Amino acid sequence: MAPDNPANLPEIFEDLAPAPRLLMGPGPVNVYPSVLSAMSMPMLGQFDPQFTEYMNQVMALYRQVFRTGNHWAFLVNGTARAGVEALLTSLICPGDRVLVPVFGRFGHLMKEIAERSGAEVRAIEVEWGRVFEPETVERALRAFEPKVVALVHGDTSTTMAQPLHEIGPICRQHGALLYVDATATLGGNPLEVDAWQLDAVSAGLQKCMSGPPGSAPITFNERVVEVVTRRKHVEAGIRPPGFVPGDGPRIQSNYFDLCMLMDYWGPARLNHHTEATTMLYAARECARVVLGEGLEAGFARHRLAARALRAGLEAMGLELFGDPAHRMTNVTGVVIPDGVPGEPVRMALLQDFSIEIGTSFGPLHGRIWRIGTMGHVCREANVVRCLDALEAVLRRNGFQAAPGAGVAAAEAVYAEAGR
Ligand SMILES: Cc1ncc(COP(=O)(O)O)c(C=O)c1O
Repeated sequence: MAPDNPANLPEIFEDLAPAPRLLMGPGPVNVYPSVLSAMSMPMLGQFDPQFTEYMNQVMALYRQVFRTGNHWAFLVNGTARAGVEALLTSLICPGDRVLVPVFGRFGHLMKEIAERSGAEVRAIEVEWGRVFEPETVERALRAFEPKVVALVHGDTSTTMAQPLHEIGPICRQHGALLYVDATATLGGNPLEVDAWQLDAVSAGLQKCMSGPPGSAPITFNERVVEVVTRRKHVEAGIRPPGFVPGDGPRIQSNYFDLCMLMDYWGPARLNHHTEATTMLYAARECARVVLGEGLEAGFARHRLAARALRAGLEAMGLELFGDPAHRMTNVTGVVIPDGVPGEPVRMALLQDFSIEIGTSFGPLHGRIWRIGTMGHVCREANVVRCLDALEAVLRRNGFQAAPGAGVAAAEAVYAEAGR
């Protein structure tokens, strides 16, 4: 019998008291304070007119964040991959051809989801740390004639951002639908859904939107609506009288059936899942904060923090990872110097300085750290705090960075930019 539990009652543990970490990994990141407040607001019933009005507001807000005139912009409950899965599983009928250009872990994820949906998948790959030339994608489109091209915008696993403005029109010319995973870029890197002719896009909250993981904003255009409504099906228990299903194969997932989700988010308000009330409040507030700052101002803030962080890292004698022309603005890959133990450095930053930076996986495992400057975290004080702590931990591990050089270089970038 435990001495502090003499009656041997079931253990209920202590009150939650998570350490106040500074989250500078590839996501999740620290949440905007007003988002946390929004999440503590009272529950509403899912068909309460106030709640359905909030749903409409979320649609209006995310149209702006995605820079689209699409009618359909709403939330899928679940982390970012719920958005990936909803779009791919609804678009792909068994046997459809899907082209996946893979430049990191999340391309492999899309390939897997497409395969699970029964697609005939062709993947093309570049080395991690690079992106695709539009001509390479075009050659594959010509040879394979896919129905769908699935492409990641910014792959946090490699810290690279794939330019999309030429690939969208190329897919359109070849009659393929382009689906983009913008989980890691939305809100922090320019993303032009309409101007770049992206047919369907999904994202998450836990990166540049600075919200909690658990809600996936998505948008798609009428070309996508046309394809998926051929597969329209409604659950027996809520099927309106006289309903005639589409003549295409039923979407394999009920939870991620875009047709049923459209009926729930649209004027029919046909019951599907119970919307995750608190996550909707969070997503609404994330968009309000991001749009309140202004998308361009937010992109500039991310660019500046990345420049300052990178100048600081290089001044410390560290090497940056990947093709410099195609780095994301919000995650930086840093080559772990020879002889420095990657994981103990990360752990010391966490335990002694309460700063989290990211490890990496696949071919980059043990080769790079990933440092995020996203959303609420993306500001001068945090860049400086991270560089300062990293310098101290590196010195303990035998890597002699010039004292203060990292912080000074980052400060110079902020000073030059007028802060
Ligand atoms: C580009 C990209 N896609 C998808 C995901 C998966 O997100 P989640 O873990 O929220 O499902 C991530 C997460 O890091 C990501 O960076």
